[in-house]
Amino acid sequence: MAEINLLDLYPKSKRPIDERVRVISAETRAIARQYGQEFFDGDRLYGYGGYKYDGRWVPIAKRIGDHYRLAKDAAILDVGCAKGFLLHDFRNLMPKAKLAGLDISEYAIQNAMESVRGDLTVGTASDLPYEDKSFDLVISINTIHNLPREECAQALREISRVSRGAAFVTVDAWRTDEEKQRLLKWILTAQTYMSTSDWEQFFEKAGYRGDYFWFIP
Ligand SMILES: C[S@@+](CC[C@H](N)C(=O)[O-])C[C@H]1O[C@@H](n2cnc3c(N)ncnc32)[C@H](O)[C@@H]1O
Repeated sequence: MAEINLLDLYPKSKRPIDERVRVISAETRAIARQYGQEFFDGDRLYGYGGYKYDGRWVPIAKRIGDHYRLAKDAAILDVGCAKGFLLHDFRNLMPKAKLAGLDISEYAIQNAMESVRGDLTVGTASDLPYEDKSFDLVISINTIHNLPREECAQALREISRVSRGAAFVTVDAWRTDEEKQRLLKWILTAQTYMSTSDWEQFFEKAGYRGDYFWFIP
């Protein structure tokens, strides 16, 4: 179990945090949490504001594959795969890999990259429809914090259960009070968020033994 930033090659963007906090409401959050068309392809207020493939995950797929020394035919699961952009890049990088993706959003899966659509399933992170130890690597980026606390812990147990060892998750967190204030302004869908040290205890208690890093806006 290690803290490691495997997303360090992800492009940095300036987030309009103060603007978002002005316009966000309980209704906005309720719409975003449906993970439908509005969240992925609607106004930026509701989520991604148009979530188009642009290749930004290519270097990250390579970084992750190298870090875990994945075999060419490794089995990889992405929990919260959205439209399958990361899995699409794994497919190009490792054509023999056995890929699987799961997301709660029917919309995302229906509109996913064609190259991987057949490998994607609609479902929830807290009840993964896979056998024990099915995957060489389970990834879950910015997803499990969207579940309430108990289900989030259950999702960590599920990730551990279906992995043969390696796992990597990222979650909403803060290290300082300033980062906490920024995160609280930015949060749209997350239901479980805490300091990095509290997350580490949470992982431990849930029995999660994989790697992790933070989303700190
Ligand atoms: C911020 S997006 C991250 C998507 C992708 N991993 C990425 O980093 O671009 C959060 C994703 O979590 C999915 N999600 C939310 N709740 C979920 C759940 N209970 N189980 C599985 N996926 C969930 C959403 O549909 C959405 O695709």
